[in-house]
This record gives sequence, structure tokens and C-alpha cells, in this order.
Amino acid sequence: METRRAAITAIGHYLPEDRLTNADLEKLVDTSDEWIRTRTGIRERRILKDPDKATSYMATQAAQELLAKRNLDPTEIDLVIVATVTPDMFFPATACIVAAEIGAVNAWAYDVSAACSGFLFALSTGVRFIESGKHEKVLVIGADKMSTIVDYTDRTTCVLFGDGAACALLEPSDDDNGIMDSIEHADGSQWSSLCMLGGGSLHPPSPLTLEKRLHFLHQEGQPVFKAAVKGMADVAAEIVERNGLSGDDIRYLVPHQANLRIIDATARRMGVTMDKVMLNIERYGNTTAATIPLCLADWEAQLRKGDNLVLAAFGGGFTWGAAWVRWAYDGSGSA
Ligand code: ACO
Repeated sequence: METRRAAITAIGHYLPEDRLTNADLEKLVDTSDEWIRTRTGIRERRILKDPDKATSYMATQAAQELLAKRNLDPTEIDLVIVATVTPDMFFPATACIVAAEIGAVNAWAYDVSAACSGFLFALSTGVRFIESGKHEKVLVIGADKMSTIVDYTDRTTCVLFGDGAACALLEPSDDDNGIMDSIEHADGSQWSSLCMLGGGSLHPPSPLTLEKRLHFLHQEGQPVFKAAVKGMADVAAEIVERNGLSGDDIRYLVPHQANLRIIDATARRMGVTMDKVMLNIERYGNTTAATIPLCLADWEAQLRKGDNLVLAAFGGGFTWGAAWVRWAYDGSGSA
């Protein structure tokens, strides 16, 4: 039996209005605009300041933008998947809250936790439900309110992250375009170099976990950097090679936006010039699960049916992966 192909048929996004610039960070920690720009490529990030609004708020806004663009009835959505490491709470899943907020009353819903690879892993999962014929419409959302787990006294991490959300609608493809291939990896042996130790069943909240600042993201920059350069470049090259593609065939590399130097290494390895790399790290920083769909949202108007995109990510876990997508529609409209 021939499997059907899944395609991304619409994109939505949400970015909070408040900006945290490098100049603002210079007032909080011992850093400089020059250090941040040369080491990471970041100039500013968006921050959702309202303490009453969490990740589900941003995810809902992104999903509502998508529904409005497509004039889509939310009751048609079969499944909502939210990739996030900053869920509103441990449970229920943020996806359940989002589904209720957008009126997707016929959908089931769950979260995926894969840090910066979250959107890719959620996409890969959603694709299987379309390919198998079980579902017609799957909403895949990447959303993170990183400002709630970033320690703004730690200069090594607070300069990196921002808040945001974006989403993709998956539907059966009516031609040869769609999600062509994907590769996913995980290696938990170095989990402790990128984690948030406190709050779970290993270190439940206590005065000690608060005192030790265990409820903040912890990252050992150098080992993560080394693993990310290798992991993201290797997996992007692997998906290109195993599908017989060359750098010339690729319209855009859509990399997770963690560090400009990691992205540069990945593009070189694939033989893709930087003018074919989606880059918005300068404006949003690392929004974890939201970076890849936020790139798609920013570039959507320029994309054409049949464009070859390679999506690639590396993140906590460690987790990493890539997807080859043949874009399914022209411009910012619907499929
Ligand atoms: N301002 C000024 N100086 C700083 C800052 C800062 N914001 N941060 C660190 N430094 C200092 C360090 O203290 C160190 O000083 P020292 O030499 O006196 O000890 C020096 O700069 C160099 O520090 P490094 O950590 O070696 O800097 P590096 O060039 O590695 O850059 C960075 C740090 C940007 C964090 C880099 O390691 C990186 O990008 N790592 C990977 C990030 C990543 O890909 N994460 C995965 C995804 S995130 C997720 O999954 C949630």
C-alpha cells in the first residue's frame, strides 16, 4: 500500500512585543553588546512580561493566527501537539489548554519535550498520523516562555534566550510535495550539560532547590557547543546525502537558532551559502522549540511550491534531527 504524504499547508506565529536588548542586559550582568553579538549573533529577544500569561497563551495566539489565515473551523483539527520545555505546568499538557482555547473540541492533545529539537520531533510525530491515514489535520506548535526559566544573574545563559511561539498545520499532500524524509537522534549520556535540575521527581521543589537556583536552566556552554556543531552539521549533511541532494538543490536551510557560529558550520558542511540560510537569531535569540517555525513564518511570503528546505536542530537531551521538506504552497496564503 502506498503511504500518503503529509505537507505543511499553513503557518502561524506569535511574538511578544517587549524587547530585551543587549544594552538592557549590560545593565543586568557583566556583559557587552560586542561579546554577545560576536559569540552568538543576537542583538535582542522578545519577552512576554505579563506574569499571568504563559506558554499556552503564546501557542494559542499562534494557532489562532493560522486558523484565521486559512479561515479554518477549529472543530476540524484532529490533533494538537505542543513542543515545549516551559509548559504552563507539569500537567495537564499545555496542548490540552491550547486545544480548548482555540475551540479544537474534536482534537486530542499532548506535549512533546525535546528542548530545541522539540518542533522537529513533534513534526515527525504529527506526520506519522497523516501518513497512516488516521488524521486529516494536525496542528504542530513550538512554544517556549524561556524567560521564566532563565537566570538573569547568569551571564553565560541569560543573553541567549527569548520567548515566542509558532505553528504548522499538517494535512495530506495532494501532489509530490510535503515532508519527504526525517532523521531523529537522542543521546542521554550528556544530559547534565543542558538541563533544569529542580522541580521534577529527582529534585522536587524545596527551600534547598530554591537556594541552589535549581529551577533555572543550566548549560555548560563549551561541551554543548561542540556537540551541537557536530550533531547539527552531521544530521543535516546525512539527510541531504541520503536523498541524493546537493547544496544547489536546497532553497533554504532552516536551522535551530542557538548560535550563529553553529549555523555557519552546518551550512558549510552542506555546501549551502549563507544567503540560503534562514536567520532571525539577531532579533529573537533562542526561543527553543519555536525557532524553526518562527523562521518559516518570517520567510513564508518568499517560499514557493516545490522549494527544497532542510530543517535541522540540536538541543538538550541531547536531541537532534533534520527534515527534508518540499514546500507545498506559494507565498503567505493557504495551500
Ligand atoms: N558576556 C561576557 N563574557 C561572557 C559571557 C557574557 N554574556 N558569557 C560567558 N562569558 C565569558 C566566560 O565567563 C568566559 O570567560 P573566562 O574565559 O574568563 O572564563 C569566556 O566568556 C568564554 O566563555 P565560553 O563559554 O568559552 O564562551 P563560548 O565562546 O563557548 O560561548 C556560548 C558561549 C555562546 C554559550 C556557546 O558555548 C554556545 O553557543 N553553546 C551552545 C548553545 C547551544 O547550542 N545550546 C543548545 C540549544 S539550547 C536548548 O536546547 C534549550
